[in-house]
Amino acid sequence: MKLGRLNHVGVATPSIERSVALYRERMGAEQVGEPFDLPAQGVRVCFVDAPNTQVELIEPLGPDSPIARFLEKNPEGGQHHLCFEVPDIAQARAWFEGQGARVLGDTRIGAHGTPIFFLHPKDMGGVLTEIMESPKQAH
Ligand code: CO
Repeated sequence: MKLGRLNHVGVATPSIERSVALYRERMGAEQVGEPFDLPAQGVRVCFVDAPNTQVELIEPLGPDSPIARFLEKNPEGGQHHLCFEVPDIAQARAWFEGQGARVLGDTRIGAHGTPIFFLHPKDMGGVLTEIMESPKQAH
């Protein structure tokens, strides 16, 4: 296992529209993707591009969304997770499991169309951490 590129910082928000306006108007963001639904994960997602990484804005699709509870505690939204790339998701999963780290749920397809999983924040110094297989042609 070798720590890869920081792909994105996940930010929960009650309103992608409002957050996009903040990133555009207050932060000068120029590249903002189209928001899209990830029904399997119960979220709507929108990527804001910074020169070296992305911010993943995440809005709940409904009251059962995994981020609904986060927003109950943080009504304004807030930093939710970090996402690092790895070359091989199965190898990475075996690595973490071999250390006894809790992997949350099955490996699944994430917002970039590549396999991802999450590590429990209690096994990662309090930070919910997404591990994502690098897209094949990029980078
Ligand atoms: Co993410």
